[in-house]
Amino acid sequence: MEKLVVATSNVGKLKEFKEMLGDKYAVISMAEAGFVGDVDETGETFYDNALLKAQTVSRALGVAALADDSGLEVACLGGAPGVYSARYSGEPCDNARNRALLLENMKGAEDRSARFVSCIVLYKPSGEVVSALGTVEGEILKEEQGNNGFGYDCLFFSTDLNKCFGVATDEEKNSVSHRGRALRALLEKL
Ligand code: IMP
Repeated sequence: MEKLVVATSNVGKLKEFKEMLGDKYAVISMAEAGFVGDVDETGETFYDNALLKAQTVSRALGVAALADDSGLEVACLGGAPGVYSARYSGEPCDNARNRALLLENMKGAEDRSARFVSCIVLYKPSGEVVSALGTVEGEILKEEQGNNGFGYDCLFFSTDLNKCFGVATDEEKNSVSHRGRALRALLEKL
């Protein structure tokens, strides 16, 4: 089976890519492929950061690399935390602390609508770039529900599933998620 390197050190993302691509590719992380360290996300858009990660890892290893840059956009916070979702409450990334800050910043908010966004980029050693975007709409709950998934999942109530990602099965989340949608759109382009 053809190997596919995913330019991430996020175990939650890697698990989802393995679930969604496992029948087509042997999905391996950049660390497993021999890439040492991390890529600084200095871009201001999901696309810029996804390109940066895929390009850096592809060039270092000489193979095609897939990267996802994603985040949560909350309407009443003007789209924050957006590209800063992983480091919302500071670095290093602490998901529980990020969720606590989000709830704090949304105290009393009536409009709790939010969306997850994912931009996926495939960078090939030839320099060819293929990219796709996916989104999923929902609401931010007032307290956490379940502990499936990662990041903000246990606060995100999906309109499509009519349940929180924190209690959804992996299959349910992947079927409607921003990452699932971006990945399926990308595969159609290949
Ligand atoms: P980055 O793409 O490495 O910048 O990190 C994305 C961040 O957005 C993660 O650390 C999570 O906080 C959040 N995020 C992205 N996708 C998801 C998801 O599917 N569920 C929950 N949180 C997510």
